Amino acid sequence: MVEYMGMDEEKLTELAKKAREYAYAPYSDFKVGAALLTKDGKVYSGCNVENASYGAANCAERTAFFKAVSEGEKSFAAIAIVGAPSGNETKDTCAPCGICRQVMREFCDGDFKIVLEDGTGGVLSYTLAELLPESFGPENL
Ligand code: THU
Repeated sequence: MVEYMGMDEEKLTELAKKAREYAYAPYSDFKVGAALLTKDGKVYSGCNVENASYGAANCAERTAFFKAVSEGEKSFAAIAIVGAPSGNETKDTCAPCGICRQVMREFCDGDFKIVLEDGTGGVLSYTLAELLPESFGPENL
């Protein structure tokens, strides 16, 4: 089992599930939670927040990142993500959307870990470099 700062992937996933309880998803009914671990061991949670003007919705992952960055954090180790239709078990993999991957790219190295449920109650762990290869980031400007 992989550990980051005393926080393992399963614990981080449990925190993502707690965050999912606050998902505001009256339009899609698809509820997502995320738990973002800083390199010094703090966890910022996030859920998706939708809007009557659908395009104004914010994903759980970006909610977590924007909360953390707005409180001065810029150094991240891992994020756990859980998502499923409301009322369903959250065992199915909910991979981050492209916009969220790009937001991660702004603040994280290629070895940043993205932890997803695997569909059987376990977790899968990817790196950002795996999920966003040949990416464009701040150092390209
Ligand atoms: N959503 C997330 O919050 N994260 C993901 O990784 C995938 C999609 C949200 C956006 C929208 O509120 C709902 O799930 C359906 O797309």
